[in-house]
Amino acid sequence: MTRELKRTQELFQQAKQHIPFGVNSNFRYWSDDTTLVVTRGEGPYIWDADGNRYIDYRLGFGPIILGHAYPAVIDRVSREIRNGTIFAWTTPLEIELAERIVRLTGVEKVRLTNTGTEATMHALRIARAYTDRDAFIKFEGQYHGMHDYVLFSTASTPRGVLGARKSPINVQTSSGIPEDIQQYVYNVPYNDFRMLEKTVRESWTELAAIIVEPIMGNAGAVMPKPGWLELIRELCDKYEIVLIFDEVKTGFRIARGGAQEYFGVKADLVTYAKALGNGFPVAAIGGTEEIMSVVRPGQVALGGTYSGNVVATAAANATLDTLEKEPVLETIMANGRKLMDGIDEILTRAGIPHVISGVPSMFAVLLGLEHQPEDFRDYQDSDAYLYQQLVFQLIDRGVMPDIDDREPWFLSYSHDERIIDETLDAFESAVNALVKGEVTYHAPIA
Ligand SMILES: Cc1ncc(COP(=O)(O)O)c(C=O)c1O
Repeated sequence: MTRELKRTQELFQQAKQHIPFGVNSNFRYWSDDTTLVVTRGEGPYIWDADGNRYIDYRLGFGPIILGHAYPAVIDRVSREIRNGTIFAWTTPLEIELAERIVRLTGVEKVRLTNTGTEATMHALRIARAYTDRDAFIKFEGQYHGMHDYVLFSTASTPRGVLGARKSPINVQTSSGIPEDIQQYVYNVPYNDFRMLEKTVRESWTELAAIIVEPIMGNAGAVMPKPGWLELIRELCDKYEIVLIFDEVKTGFRIARGGAQEYFGVKADLVTYAKALGNGFPVAAIGGTEEIMSVVRPGQVALGGTYSGNVVATAAANATLDTLEKEPVLETIMANGRKLMDGIDEILTRAGIPHVISGVPSMFAVLLGLEHQPEDFRDYQDSDAYLYQQLVFQLIDRGVMPDIDDREPWFLSYSHDERIIDETLDAFESAVNALVKGEVTYHAPIA
């Protein structure tokens, strides 16, 4: 089974002439032969430039919670932008959105930004200003965006360079980051209770924040062990450290109130993006009244020309409205559960060792593992190459998860039972082809 990709590849070559690697985000580049140019999306589907249709489980790396080009969102944005898009004044749309976010998540104050990167960058600054301390703890394999401080030991860190578990090495994810700033960053293995307690005990006087993705949304959807998020909360309370939940992926996706609601643990600051706007660029930092009170002219700088613009706020209001009025997350959870169970059954029947981690609205399929991974180091034992071969088979059959097993399968409200059945049929056929050795060879993609 091979798809015609003539037009797609012509366009991609054209893209490469003026755009580095033909993509505007490095994560979108697979290889010259397999990077797609997409022309359209609707509901659960996307189409490439040759008209091939795919059931989309990448969903733009997670933002599409309702479906592509979802009418309620598109209609509201189209209506609102007829009256202008940006005014350098507060609009009623911003007030409406702040009220919705507060109601759904329990944060007391909220500021808008455009991307998750901006949100985590500002959250760290707020925490530093509030505590008058400079360092922070993050966890190995967690990704918090593209600003310098958080680009150490992220999900892009290769196997075998993280150092000994008891003395982790901060591994820089990119060139161009001043080496000296890593003195402010402590990376600890996720779910490692003893290492976390030790690091906090030894360094609390310098620690402004602990920033955590409550589910490892960029590294195999590793789940927090029972008591783990509670321990982080307890340590933050004891040592007056600001707890930041980075809910860029989990927010408005795993529960209306995100991970705080799902796991029953409250953070001091929370960052949201992705599902908040169903694909429109909007993000937010929420927090307690007390901590957010440092955000004021002359104290903590937090701003941006496009923050709270009409396109973003109209989209987010329409998305949250749908989330509140319709059984969006209940439907996603039921259909996602069916998909997870179906995949589990097919792989078990085929005798392929695997685990499925995460929750039904964002889960990872990790081949070659016998036990649920507890941290990034465990996750790195998965057979990422076998998974890539499986995914190429799926893509040939019109089903599109990411080829990288770190990146979860995301579901939207538009992925109904029929779509799940179709996906499972394709999955079974892809696994059979893999088992019989009928696979087209694809070179591994880094
Ligand atoms: C947990 C988390 N935080 C922050 C970010 C950065 O968000 P953005 O890509 O909108 O800058 C991402 C992006 O994937 C993310 O997954």
